[in-house]
Amino acid sequence: MKEVRYIDLTCVQNSLIESARLAMETAYNPYSNFFVGAALLTRDGKDVIIGSNVENGAYGSTICAERGAILAANPLEKRMFSKLAIIARGRDFDTTEVTGPCGACRQMLYESSQISEIPIEIIMSTTKKDKIIIATIEELLPLGFGPKQLGIDITRFQK
Ligand code: THU
Repeated sequence: MKEVRYIDLTCVQNSLIESARLAMETAYNPYSNFFVGAALLTRDGKDVIIGSNVENGAYGSTICAERGAILAANPLEKRMFSKLAIIARGRDFDTTEVTGPCGACRQMLYESSQISEIPIEIIMSTTKKDKIIIATIEELLPLGFGPKQLGIDITRFQK
């Protein structure tokens, strides 16, 4: 896990944050008024798939931006990723600390990481990109549990 300066981001990392920022503005968030955007880069580097949080009157049915992106990628048969950018803002405030994925999203990203067979880089940025932290999902979810632990062969899903 490391904190990086905006100017030290690669072009790919920077444009992934920008995709997440655009997605963030599409949040369906009448209850929290918190906007979150996520952008996944496929492992082959060819595609970016975005997600934003979708809330629900039954609050627990809310889907976070990160899981939204994974769900959007699945019917495109894209399940192998190398990077994920996450950015957030309040209705009338900018975030001053980065927004990390919630526990449920970490669990789903852990599955993606095992499918991907590379450590997925999670790039978390404040609204103004004045604080950026990069970590792998394995760092965010140590001793994680996934298909490997179950002895499940997921190779046929590796697309
Ligand atoms: N949220 C996300 O979309 N991703 C996160 O990483 C943290 C939380 C959303 C869920 C809900 O719509 C709002 O932020 C407040 O919890």
